[in-house]
Amino acid sequence: MRATRVLVTGAGGQVGQDVVDLLGAVTPPGGDPALQLDGRAVVEGEFEVAALTRHDLDVTDRAAVFAAVAAFRPAAVVHLAAYTAVDRAEGDVATCLAVNADGTGNVSDACAATGCHLIAVSTDYVFDGGAVRALREDDVPRPHSVYGMSKLLGERRCRASDTVVRTSWVMGVRGRSVIHVIAQRARAGEFVRFVDDQRGTVTVAADLARALVTLVRERPGGLWHVANTGSLTWFDLARFVGQWFGRDDDFATAIATRDLVPPPRAPRPARSDLDTSRFASRWAPLPAWTAGVDRLLAAWNAGAA
Ligand SMILES: NC(=O)c1ccc[n+]([C@@H]2O[C@H](COP(=O)([O-])OP(=O)(O)OC[C@H]3O[C@@H](n4cnc5c(N)ncnc54)[C@H](OP(=O)(O)O)[C@@H]3O)[C@@H](O)[C@H]2O)c1
Repeated sequence: MRATRVLVTGAGGQVGQDVVDLLGAVTPPGGDPALQLDGRAVVEGEFEVAALTRHDLDVTDRAAVFAAVAAFRPAAVVHLAAYTAVDRAEGDVATCLAVNADGTGNVSDACAATGCHLIAVSTDYVFDGGAVRALREDDVPRPHSVYGMSKLLGERRCRASDTVVRTSWVMGVRGRSVIHVIAQRARAGEFVRFVDDQRGTVTVAADLARALVTLVRERPGGLWHVANTGSLTWFDLARFVGQWFGRDDDFATAIATRDLVPPPRAPRPARSDLDTSRFASRWAPLPAWTAGVDRLLAAWNAGAA
């Protein structure tokens, strides 16, 4: 069997590391080795990977992006490079747009030039948060933050034949996200306060990586919402992590977004949980968020990062 060539941008990020592991037939830390969304395990030698970190390839450098794709001739590109500092982006608009909008445009154009398939990752922050139910692919995006706007512009720089994956509240064993802060405080005997009026869907990076590999194989094109199953608030997550570490109910206190001091620079959607039924009905649903976070915490607590 000839290996399928896959080029990964942003390969040093939290999702990038997990995708590169999985393309090499290695279960990422916190991953479930039995999770096969398309029913097929990844076997060694199935993929040949160019894992490009920001140091290897800056996606704002259009000529470099074209040269990298032309040199490796991948069958698919998984585009994970992004400006992800949501609050910093409010004061750094030009850089955020350059990476998330123009950078994604560069990657889509380079893929079109060589006939390879693009899988680009976007965010629930393209929505304004006023939803009354989980958000579907055909709901109208209306971002309120610079980051959300930059990612929506990036989506719009993709072609209809490209695959665009919107995901949300991503957390891996590696990298540093909210869950690491909560877990460290729980383990240290400290306390946390988290908002109970922002609802979303958690996505464990190792589970998202499984979905991305399925999309690399199938290359469906179009827009797909991908997240673990079930919605929650940040307070629900904090309480779950506290219980995981054996802390009692006093560990996490529920507060309202308006009580945050200082207030975050970027507005967050009040409700941006993703309806993932399109992906789930074509392949399979990702596991419940509780199962994914349980695996993540076990790996993190065992020092797997
Ligand atoms: N994290 C979340 O909660 C979340 C939620 C929804 C969607 N997403 C999307 O999921 C994707 C993966 O995110 P992630 O969580 O893995 O984020 P991440 O850990 O911040 O990884 C992003 C990577 O992109 C790199 N990068 C930044 N600017 C670049 C540039 N100009 N050229 C090339 N690489 C560049 C970063 O390098 P440096 O570290 O050196 O800057 C980093 O390694 C992104 O598209 C993100 O927007 C994330």
